[in-house]
Amino acid sequence: MDNPSTNVVNFKGFNFESTLDMELLENVDNFEIRDDDVFIITYPKSGTIWAQQILSLIYFEGHRNRMENLKTAYRVPFFEYRNHPMDIENRPSPHLFTSHIPYYLAPKGLKNKKTKIIYVYRNPKDVLVSYFYFTNWIMTFEPTDTMEHFMEKFLDGKVVGSLWFDHIRGWYEHKHDFNILFMMYEDMKKNFRSSVLKISRFLEKELSEEVVDAVMNQATFENMKSIPQANYTNIIENQCGMRHQEGQIMRKGTIGDWKHHLTVEQSERFDKIFQRKMKDFPLKFIWDIN
Ligand code: A3P
Repeated sequence: MDNPSTNVVNFKGFNFESTLDMELLENVDNFEIRDDDVFIITYPKSGTIWAQQILSLIYFEGHRNRMENLKTAYRVPFFEYRNHPMDIENRPSPHLFTSHIPYYLAPKGLKNKKTKIIYVYRNPKDVLVSYFYFTNWIMTFEPTDTMEHFMEKFLDGKVVGSLWFDHIRGWYEHKHDFNILFMMYEDMKKNFRSSVLKISRFLEKELSEEVVDAVMNQATFENMKSIPQANYTNIIENQCGMRHQEGQIMRKGTIGDWKHHLTVEQSERFDKIFQRKMKDFPLKFIWDIN
């Protein structure tokens, strides 16, 4: 078995990337949570950046009409990774956050059942493929030579974010402790308008048809790929470093790309483990475009 990657910091049984704010997590229950805060929570590579963009567009008109220069990643900054040039606690409310934390490391205040959490999940074969390309691109992640090798790490939870199965199960099985909306990446792709409306209803934000159109327009894959404020390009260049120029967070943005990257044998092995681990799990998954 592989050891966890060198960039991984394990805190209370969960693997974080090494830029983790350990002090924050050690005192996580003291972190002030406000009723109107909103958290996006995801397992890595599940559409985090997409959810960040949608949230930012819903809350900030300047992002909708492209008048604002502030990056989406700073409008909806990471909670546990403090690599933004801003004082996130002293921003005006509402505080929007992004996080990959497991349910058991959530600040106590999130259990007030008022603060809203949007949990975005994606079929784990596409997560796996997206993650493979990501870790081979970003310098602060350990590269893996083959998909086979990366799949072993992923299925052993020896990656940042630990085990995909535990992450989604944990949040789902503790959903009654939180005010949480589960959004499926594939459903967002297939039913984008109704997904934006679902999110805005959950946030108690009345959006006019015009605003919904603007949110959708600025949050398409193609547009996000071309909007520097939306796609992390400069942040990755300046803060993480890249191994090569071909990578992008906005890589393909499709459903079922795993079919082009996993062998039949790998896919069947994955299915067996999935069926065992997710037995009786009520959320459904979409594995291909049809
Ligand atoms: P792929 O690598 O499969 O293309 P995260 O933000 O959690 O790291 O997830 C990144 C994945 O979400 C990438 O998947 C990326 O292309 C996809 N993604 C980001 N924005 C998207 C959008 N607007 N529509 C569809 N997929 C999007």
